[in-house]
Amino acid sequence: MFEIDFSQSPSALAPLAGFTDLPFRYVCKKFDVDLTFSEMISVNALIRNSKKTFHMLKCASNEDRYIVQIAGSDINNIIKAVEILNDIDGIAGIDLNCGCPVPKVVAQDAGSSLLKDLSHLSHIVEAIKKYSNKHYTSVKTRIGFSEKTPEIIAKTIESAGADFISIHGRTRSGGYKSEIDYDAIRRANKTVKIPVFANGDITTYEKALEVRNFTKCEGLMIGRGAIGNPWIFYQLKHNQSSVDKSLIKSVVLEHLQLMIEFYGDKFGIILFRKHLHAYSKSLPQASIFRHKINAISDKNELLETLEEFFT
Ligand SMILES: Cc1cc2nc3c(=O)[nH]c(=O)nc-3n(C[C@H](O)[C@H](O)[C@H](O)COP(=O)(O)O)c2cc1C
Repeated sequence: MFEIDFSQSPSALAPLAGFTDLPFRYVCKKFDVDLTFSEMISVNALIRNSKKTFHMLKCASNEDRYIVQIAGSDINNIIKAVEILNDIDGIAGIDLNCGCPVPKVVAQDAGSSLLKDLSHLSHIVEAIKKYSNKHYTSVKTRIGFSEKTPEIIAKTIESAGADFISIHGRTRSGGYKSEIDYDAIRRANKTVKIPVFANGDITTYEKALEVRNFTKCEGLMIGRGAIGNPWIFYQLKHNQSSVDKSLIKSVVLEHLQLMIEFYGDKFGIILFRKHLHAYSKSLPQASIFRHKINAISDKNELLETLEEFFT
């Protein structure tokens, strides 16, 4: 059930803090994404038994290859977190975050900071592999902290025992906007035998095919390109250059319903606004719609507005 078929060019929904929660992952699974990742889960929060963190970890009913991504640096704490995850069913693997550029995370020597000390990174991966009872141990990385060293990073991760790598083709210094270096991803992929997911700025079906052809990576990982556009996974799975978006209304309504079930009425509606902004993008009158829904906090009023806009 947890097996990933790397011979079939699998697609993955990238971990996106604030977006890839249970409701959105459920929606993407309906559009045939192969692999889903949780939002980044802080190891420290997990071992403090944070209620919010355990809620974030929950797996959707249709998720079969669900990977929990952890962020941390202290090996003992990481082992404790892995042992907690060992007791939770439905998780196919544990992924180590080596890409987060946020100063608060970097200051704790976690996220992309791990790329500054590859020997430490290696010990962490070995520890996860040793203590985890899950199917997969994986790493999501950038191509360097300041300098680009994709081959060395990929080789280190492979030698430490990871089963696959996801590579975001920017350094930490490149933030989220610098040009993606697909050649660095290609070279990293060539250096290792384990499967690699190419990641960064894949926003259309055509771009996905280009990235696959160029990098020769086994898998493609898509983050922002799937927000408001979960259809992209269906296109990849079924090789369709165009897609029938006539279902948009029912997708939006189901997504809203899941948000309300998961977060309650108030927060469900507030947190859904950013998804609605994305779903409505490029539709007529979108800016008026966005302005309107930002002021709605009543469920029935929101439902009426959605009915009207998406019909
Ligand atoms: C809002 C936001 C939240 C993110 N959260 C995470 C995260 O929790 N863990 C992680 O490894 N990467 C995170 N990323 C990075 C993405 O997973 C991805 O590597 C990056 O956005 C590039 O891919 P894309 O262009 O397909 O979005 C985040 C990116 C954004 C924009």
